[in-house]
Amino acid sequence: MSASAYLARGARAAEVGEPAPVDWGEPIRITDIRPGDWKIALLEGDPVFLRRRTRAQIAAARATPLSQLPDPAADEERAPGGEWLVVSGLCTHAACQVQAGLGPYEGWQCFCHGSAYDLSGRVRQGPARRNLPVIGHAIANGALVLRRS
Ligand code: FES
Repeated sequence: MSASAYLARGARAAEVGEPAPVDWGEPIRITDIRPGDWKIALLEGDPVFLRRRTRAQIAAARATPLSQLPDPAADEERAPGGEWLVVSGLCTHAACQVQAGLGPYEGWQCFCHGSAYDLSGRVRQGPARRNLPVIGHAIANGALVLRRS
């Protein structure tokens, strides 16, 4: 069984199974991720979220004025294709693992000290001050490949 077969899959607020290691350049199957869901991969030991956003989630992320953001960044730059957003799963405050689909912005929530991230992985509530880093990737033939950017 490939490493990607062991990848944990998120289903809104629920996460099932344990994430497993993937390498840069290793195809990760994404055809099993429904709109609104996500999958977690372990890249170099750290969690990475592969999140498939719904149209409504994309619209919400793109409607947010940059003036409301502590670390302004356009969703169009973080997720150029709209549907797929790939971000680090480590909170930018003190590196706790964030939880997807939770919090006031329904993006990610960190339960260590309360930071909240929106549907673009942008920090909206501290103590974190920086967005979840975007991980470079490419998609082809039903698989996503992580790329160093
Ligand atoms: Fe996430 Fe402190 S580590 S809020």
